[in-house]
Amino acid sequence: MQLGRLLAYFVLGQAALAAAVSLPLRIVTFNIRYATSSLESNEKPWWDLFCFISSSRCRERRLVGLLQSISDAAPAGAVTIMGLQEVLHNQLSDIKNGLGSNWDHVGFGRDDGAESGEYSPILYRTDVLTLVYSEMKWLSPTPDVVSYGWNAGSRRVVTIGVFQDITTGKRFIHADTHLDNVSSEARIEGIKVVVARIEAVQAIYGPLGVTLTGDFNSDPNGDAYSTLQNLGYLTEIWNSGAQRLGTNQLTYTGFTTTGISRIDYIWLGPNPDTFYSAQQFEIWSNIVDGTIVSDHRPIVADITLL
Ligand SMILES: *[C@@H]1O[C@H](CO)[C@@H](O)[C@H](O)[C@H]1NC(C)=O
Repeated sequence: MQLGRLLAYFVLGQAALAAAVSLPLRIVTFNIRYATSSLESNEKPWWDLFCFISSSRCRERRLVGLLQSISDAAPAGAVTIMGLQEVLHNQLSDIKNGLGSNWDHVGFGRDDGAESGEYSPILYRTDVLTLVYSEMKWLSPTPDVVSYGWNAGSRRVVTIGVFQDITTGKRFIHADTHLDNVSSEARIEGIKVVVARIEAVQAIYGPLGVTLTGDFNSDPNGDAYSTLQNLGYLTEIWNSGAQRLGTNQLTYTGFTTTGISRIDYIWLGPNPDTFYSAQQFEIWSNIVDGTIVSDHRPIVADITLL
């Protein structure tokens, strides 16, 4: 009995310690633009043979450098998680090779659940985080199988991971998605699937703090944004009280040097949010050494998992 009590004290003590230690996180969302050969004006190829001669010809080297800079500039001790969109398999390989062997990802190509089509991958560092669980679901009435939903122009997915910080033992859920650019109904119903899947994961592993990254193809007055807002489940970083750094307010730029719209977001919760405090966020430039590396800008948020 005494031993049992001692053990209980020990276990509870460890749990209390884990709960007391907070974990700084750097959350990133970035639509990197799929590698295409039909280039828009000012768009450079992701990679081609001429990139051997001049790396400034291509997006690949500079975009990976930007991701590296975002991670390197994270506050001391912060763990960086990146939710990317429009990532083709070869781009994912290039990014992981560029970032180094500490990085891994969850997610699959949306066209076959394997390597075909765009991924909405979550990139994380295996030396600081353990992956506890992950899933990818289609945003359709049949989320478990490769499918289109609600007149969408493309197959759409959500990637979800439950992560555990190796040092503190703290766990959180991160989800990443890219809503349809054609069908309003697909965006509205799609974001509802995203929340339903997060809640299902939450029911098994939670209650845990949740972060959601994504290209919503919806501005803050638009269909998908208001649907998520009205569900009351998560708060967008912009409305979280976090300080906005820098001057950029728009996230979609096309291959131009000015902003066009705000359609990419970082959300946190669940509400009422006792899991996170949000310090700051910034919409970074997508121009690196004169090259427009994507038609979107990345958003970088610094928050603390309490
Ligand atoms: C939607 O995105 C796809 C793929 O990126 C593109 O081919 C298509 O033109 C876009 N449609 C609209 C309506 O913007």
